[in-house]
Amino acid sequence: MKWHVLRPLWVAIGLVGSILVARVFLVPDDFGINGRNFTYGFHRLSNIQEWKDFPVKYRGREYCVECHEEKVDSLNASPHQPVECENCHGAAVNHPDDPELLPIDRSREHCLRCHAQLNYPHSARDQVPGINNRMHMRRRDCAECHNPHSPAEEKQ
Ligand code: HEC
Ligand code: HEC
Ligand code: HEC
Ligand code: HEC
Repeated sequence: MKWHVLRPLWVAIGLVGSILVARVFLVPDDFGINGRNFTYGFHRLSNIQEWKDFPVKYRGREYCVECHEEKVDSLNASPHQPVECENCHGAAVNHPDDPELLPIDRSREHCLRCHAQLNYPHSARDQVPGINNRMHMRRRDCAECHNPHSPAEEKQ
């Protein structure tokens, strides 16, 4: 064979060889030992434990019942039933120890995440009622008139 064919061939062989050598040092010991249960065995066994140890930050409303029962009851009986407490108040992982209080966001933007009017046909506005931020009771906090835990009820 001609040199100009052989030289790149040696380079290619060298590259593959060095990748195989590097693999010996870089691939963790427990890679692929879980057999074929995982696609092609491409799986690191200790990863299972890592995910088990991963701290979950959200607790769900079952956790709030213990101390904020009336809030949970009114939320569950309201059109906001599908909205989780922690969607509005943030993750409660160690509350009430740390933080002692969860944040309360009274801004209009906070509600408009879901209630901004979307002017598309077939958009979610059929399910989640949208309002026009510039028309609907401008510059006043939504919670002055709507109870976030029971938005269908009249508020004085
Ligand atoms: C073990 C009891 C306990 C649990 C469980 C608990 N809280 Fe609290 N929470 C408290 C205490 C105590 C306070 C501070 C006193 C207060 O304002 O009621 C507080 C304060 C708050 C505040 C701030 C109130 C304010 O006036 O600033 C919010 C919001 C809140 N909790 C939401 C939640 C949510 C959401 C959950 C469930 C994910 C939850 N809490 C679970 C005990 C608890
Ligand atoms: C749609 C957003 C939203 C959801 C969902 C929500 N909250 Fe609130 N929460 C607020 C807002 C806004 C305030 C402030 C109300 C005000 O100023 O009148 C508040 C106030 C509070 C307060 C303290 C002030 C008070 O009114 O006594 C507590 C405690 C609280 N929420 C707990 C909860 C719990 C528990 C849940 C779930 C059962 C929950 N919240 C669900 C938005 C929400
Ligand atoms: C995570 C999304 C979400 C957020 C944030 C949210 N809402 Fe809602 N809201 C909903 C859903 C879902 C409904 C129920 C729609 C239905 O099924 O009728 C609803 C319904 C309502 C209604 C109509 C109640 C009725 O009479 O039917 C009002 C008013 C309302 N929300 C006010 C608020 C206010 C005020 C805030 C801010 C404190 C807020 N919402 C934040 C999702 C949200
Ligand atoms: C000054 C009091 C007031 C304020 C502030 C206010 N609203 Fe309202 N809202 C009302 C009244 C009254 C109605 C019912 C009459 C109507 O549909 O206009 C209503 C209706 C709604 C509805 C139901 C619309 C429908 O089509 O069913 C939603 C959703 C809503 N408001 C969300 C909000 C949000 C989000 C904010 C803050 C960005 C807000 N409101 C601020 C008084 C208020």
